[in-house]
Amino acid sequence: MSGEKSQGLTFKMPRLGVNIDHVATLREARKGIEPEPVMAALLAQASGADSIVVHLREDRRHIKDSDVFNLRNILHTRLNLEMSAADEIVDIACKVVPDQATLVPEKRQELTTEGGLDVANNFNKLNKAIKKLKDHNIEVSLFIDPDKKQISAAKKIGASMIEIHTGRFADATSKNEEDKYFKEIKLSTVFARKIGLSVNAGHGLNYHNVSRIAKITGIEELNIGHSIICRSVFVGLGRAVEEMKALI
Ligand code: PXP
Repeated sequence: MSGEKSQGLTFKMPRLGVNIDHVATLREARKGIEPEPVMAALLAQASGADSIVVHLREDRRHIKDSDVFNLRNILHTRLNLEMSAADEIVDIACKVVPDQATLVPEKRQELTTEGGLDVANNFNKLNKAIKKLKDHNIEVSLFIDPDKKQISAAKKIGASMIEIHTGRFADATSKNEEDKYFKEIKLSTVFARKIGLSVNAGHGLNYHNVSRIAKITGIEELNIGHSIICRSVFVGLGRAVEEMKALI
């Protein structure tokens, strides 16, 4: 879908990546077998999701290794594995071979990913992980804050793609604050595209704030989890995905 042109880029409707971690969170509340994340992924796929995203955390608090292998075997859409750069997780990713690996910082006690990667200050560790993933034909994306220094470091380290952290925009408590963070995301997108990176965005996006981010020329994919899974409790997962896709 083309239209607005900005900085030499043509607007294209962003793809929707549906993060299904919280289907597994619900399963783990009883340590049982339902709801089954693979079922959720198939339903999301049939309802318009362009990719399925799961985060295999080092503490395995929701998604388990077997979920990732099962998803790899069954999905037709892209599988985007969110992960830290820990050796153990990188080894699993190299066995699963997802279409894409999104490297994120991970802290044991956090409720969700709190900030973007500090690429410049973790260069060696990230470099090793990226090299290994790329050697296994896995496309690597780096989850970073909308910050020129981090974007330049992402390019330098050899990532082809970044995901801009939209959390501060989503958590803004005033219109002024929201506008400020929106501008950061927009300028970061332009800069990243100019130096040849593909740009995705995500975190904290919901049915109220997604349209503004979806309109930014140059963003190719939005990765959304919590709000879709929350809405699915009331309207069903298929409809929750369709509604998000319509907003985008
Ligand atoms: N992108 C990344 C890198 C994330 O870590 C998360 C949370 O798992 C998301 C997107 C989705 O965020 P939310 O669940 O707030 O939509």
